[in-house]
Amino acid sequence: MIILKKLNPKKDISDKYVNWMNDKSVHPFSVQKFTKHTKKKVKKYVEKINSTKNIFLYGIFLKQKTSLNHIGNIKLGPIHKYYKSSHISYFIGEKEYLKKGYATKAIKMIIQIARQKKVKKLKAGIVEINHGSIKVVKNNGFKKEATLISEEQHGNKRYNSLIFGKVL
Ligand SMILES: CC(C)(COP(=O)(O)OP(=O)(O)OC[C@H]1O[C@@H](n2cnc3c(N)ncnc32)[C@H](O)[C@@H]1OP(=O)(O)O)[C@@H](O)C(=O)NCCC(=O)NCCS
Repeated sequence: MIILKKLNPKKDISDKYVNWMNDKSVHPFSVQKFTKHTKKKVKKYVEKINSTKNIFLYGIFLKQKTSLNHIGNIKLGPIHKYYKSSHISYFIGEKEYLKKGYATKAIKMIIQIARQKKVKKLKAGIVEINHGSIKVVKNNGFKKEATLISEEQHGNKRYNSLIFGKVL
């Protein structure tokens, strides 16, 4: 069973978490792969997000008997102040927990959180070759709304970015 827990910059910035951020295989299609992450930088990032009123960053934690195991992150925001539309992004960092349904479940939970925050529309931008990510949003009722042609470059090839949306 997983839970979403707001990240605590004092307790949750483990070496494991920093390693995920530096692991290109965890972020094959994300701009994160262009940055060298350190514990200090990740802590600062979490503090900055937590100080905003419209971005919500959660750790995806696996409940194991008496402990919580941090396996990935999911973010909601920014939430548009007037339009109440927003954006989600997510990753599973612990490879042994991939393809076990946890990202699908985490998105289901973030949809509930978004509803509680009165969000009316959610979006996710996904490069066309990220088949796992396309699957997890589709599993949660997101529909493809737009294609941004030749939006991203991975290796020496250019790819379309797909915008998936869900009206809440
Ligand atoms: C995309 C990602 C979040 C999926 O996480 P996950 O917990 O493994 O996904 P789930 O276990 O919930 O998988 C849901 C479905 O997608 C399928 N799937 C997962 N990864 C897949 C992959 N790489 N290729 C094809 N299908 C995949 C699963 O088999 C499952 O199929 P089902 O619903 O028919 O059973 C994870 O691979 C990841 O963190 N990737 C790197 C970061 C990333 O791409 N984030 C999203 C940016 S838009």
